[in-house]
Amino acid sequence: MTRYRKQDPEITRRRFINAAMGTTATVGIVSLVGVLGTANPVFRLTRDKMPPVEGDVLVHASASKEGEVIKVSELSEQLIRAWPMGKDKEGNNLIRKGDPNNVLALYRFPKGQIVAPTNLDATVDGEIVAYSDICTHAGCSVSDDDQQEGQMKCPCHSGQYDPKRGCVVVGGPPPRPLAQLPIKQDGDKLVVAGFFLENPYPFTESEWEARKEAVKAQLA
Ligand code: FES
Repeated sequence: MTRYRKQDPEITRRRFINAAMGTTATVGIVSLVGVLGTANPVFRLTRDKMPPVEGDVLVHASASKEGEVIKVSELSEQLIRAWPMGKDKEGNNLIRKGDPNNVLALYRFPKGQIVAPTNLDATVDGEIVAYSDICTHAGCSVSDDDQQEGQMKCPCHSGQYDPKRGCVVVGGPPPRPLAQLPIKQDGDKLVVAGFFLENPYPFTESEWEARKEAVKAQLA
């Protein structure tokens, strides 16, 4: 017959309290790491994860040409995906693909076809325009390879944007337009002229503002 030893009630109580405190501390640490790692994206910002910044050169993001500098002469109404390429601390080229939210969509339309609410001052001659490629609904990449010329249709839930009109939402569930990135021409290259004009990321507005400030401070 199994015999159970009688426990000292005081020892049992103390063990229970210690275990409870240990669990509470562990949960607290895990929660803190979670908060720092997700709610505040600035916490782990490195140059490869920085958003596009002024002076970055746009390079191809498609697998077959990844890293090649995009030439103005290559652009058309057919969407081209791009990464921003900046510099590391030693001055070497560094593609900012550490954050998948940095993928960009580039178009060139005949003069006069790009209209408000696109910010024309942030385009090249009113003909070449760049947007975030990350859907504002649930963060999918909008530009799959089946896009018809001049159209942006998100493959996840059929969100649709109009790249000639500031990438406003023209169908599906996205809550807001894709963010426009100001660009300018440098010879046959395209160069970033400043931060996204709107918050392109799945962050709050205050987190986006904090991220811009962190980037400015690091690059100063
Ligand atoms: S993620 Fe694009 S429509 Fe849902």
